Amino acid sequence: MDRFFVDAVYYSPTETSEKVAKVVAEGLETGFGEGRCAGVRYLDLTHGVPDGPVCIRDSVAVIAAPVYGGRVAETAVERLSGIRALNSAAVAVVLYGNRDYEDALAELQDLLETCGFRVAAAAAFIGEHSYSRPWMPIAEGRPDGRDLAKAKDFGAAAAGKLLAGKMPDGRLAVPGNRPYKIKGTHVPQAPVCDDSRCLGCGICASVCPVKAISLSSGKAVADSVSCTKCCACVKNCPAGALVFDSPFAAILYRDFSERKEPAIFL
Ligand SMILES: Cc1cc2nc3c(=O)[nH]c(=O)nc-3n(C[C@H](O)[C@H](O)[C@H](O)COP(=O)(O)O)c2cc1C
Ligand code: SF4
Ligand code: SF4
Repeated sequence: MDRFFVDAVYYSPTETSEKVAKVVAEGLETGFGEGRCAGVRYLDLTHGVPDGPVCIRDSVAVIAAPVYGGRVAETAVERLSGIRALNSAAVAVVLYGNRDYEDALAELQDLLETCGFRVAAAAAFIGEHSYSRPWMPIAEGRPDGRDLAKAKDFGAAAAGKLLAGKMPDGRLAVPGNRPYKIKGTHVPQAPVCDDSRCLGCGICASVCPVKAISLSSGKAVADSVSCTKCCACVKNCPAGALVFDSPFAAILYRDFSERKEPAIFL
């Protein structure tokens, strides 16, 4: 590749994957320099996929998605699988809430290879857990400044590796089992709205990645069957009217409060 684009592609209901994807892309752009990088483009899959086929060509794409249950979030898998890559390398990134990413990075690597990318580098970063609340913080505020500095250095290092033509003969080695861990049964649950606090502003409906929220008589109602439990609505509600009561939150707070650091594979 003589000159190529850097693409930042992400599915990110609570914006931690988005933050890291954008900073890794910045690092890639800096690492390549203006002479090699034709520009940075952004593809946000959080609220759906573009009409028509998505083809990424002559690019180095950083692709980031959250970990749900040790796997790549299902909606991210569905939306990423429509991408076709031509003459392009990928930097695979998963964001997890300080518990574990288990098989998610391996799964993302496989998915991106099926799309047609060569996976040149990979990383697992930590993002504030979807179930984190101010009174029960789990990786609160992450990715923070230290994480983002690492994300930028990681992007620059991945660019250096690509410029030096150091692609592995085989596949990049990343942690994770194949076959991946089996997903637990989906238990339908969605945030519940306290009507006495709800302002009827509709912000929750606008941030929901799967359109599970509607307003009924000016109050928010979430559909538990389509809800992915991402908690974007809870975190964005200006009135604190939405409550997602997960039995896991207290356990995560108790057992996974000790800070973990990003893992990088080059
Ligand atoms: C349904 C669900 C399952 C999750 N499973 C895990 C997990 O297995 N391990 C973990 O450390 N974090 C887990 N998380 C936390 C997210 O991976 C984490 O908050 C991530 O930063 C969210 O990404 P986003 O901000 O891009 O949406 C889970 C979150 C949700 C909503
Ligand atoms: S964001 Fe909060 S206040 Fe606004 S409609 Fe939704 S639940 Fe009600
Ligand atoms: S309704 Fe469910 S899927 Fe939609 S934003 Fe809220 S938690 Fe996420």
